[in-house]
Amino acid sequence: MGKSPNIFVFKTPEQVALAAAGKFEAYAREAIADHGVFSVALAGGNTPRRVYELLAAELFRDRIGWAGVHLFFGDERAVPPDNHDSNYRMVHAALISQIGIPLSNVHRIIGEGDAHENAAAYERDLKEFFGEISWPRFDLILLGMGEDGHTASLFPGGDAVREELRWVAATRMEHLKQDRITITIPVINQAAHVMFLVTGKAKAKRLSEVIHQNSAAAPLPAQLVQPTHGTFEWLLDKEAASLL
Ligand code: 6PG
Repeated sequence: MGKSPNIFVFKTPEQVALAAAGKFEAYAREAIADHGVFSVALAGGNTPRRVYELLAAELFRDRIGWAGVHLFFGDERAVPPDNHDSNYRMVHAALISQIGIPLSNVHRIIGEGDAHENAAAYERDLKEFFGEISWPRFDLILLGMGEDGHTASLFPGGDAVREELRWVAATRMEHLKQDRITITIPVINQAAHVMFLVTGKAKAKRLSEVIHQNSAAAPLPAQLVQPTHGTFEWLLDKEAASLL
């Protein structure tokens, strides 16, 4: 069992995003001072978009040493980078296109083409950056949570949830007829800082189940996130936290 989580509840999603951007800056400063780089795996979906916009805004942009920041992705939809569903597209619009980060510091998961081949390619990219070690140690992994308790592209009952050897897996979302590429649970649990961002009333019930670890059946993917030695934080708005 990893460290117990620190739970922060804010009045509004905007305050959640502001707090997350502040932590991103602090963790970036800490990592760059300690080992010269800051490796972060970004979450997709809607919730973190505002965080990325804030990081690109005047308040934060010039306070972060982007030359030392390496942007990775926690997961990607198997679509081209200009597709509406692409996490890369969302992050490029909100952040990458707004800051002077060296393109070699942006590690896109290739979405177009075969998901299994792209998962293997992304794993090679990670191994080139972190080295041929047992598990990569990201300085920060940002995560969201779906209403079904999924995180990254690790879905309840999905084959990638129980992956114990690979750093990156391809998985199929049958109900959406969409392939995904995702980092795996052991990679998430090795990070120095793991931060969930969850807002909105629609997630309140599932969040209570995940936080209180009382899911009836098999553990939900979000419950399998138990950082072994890193910090573990949930940044919530009061609507999402209303049933805790
Ligand atoms: C993705 C994310 C996914 C997301 C949750 C929550 O690629 O969509 O990795 O895990 O974090 O689905 O999404 P929202 O923030 O849009 O609610």
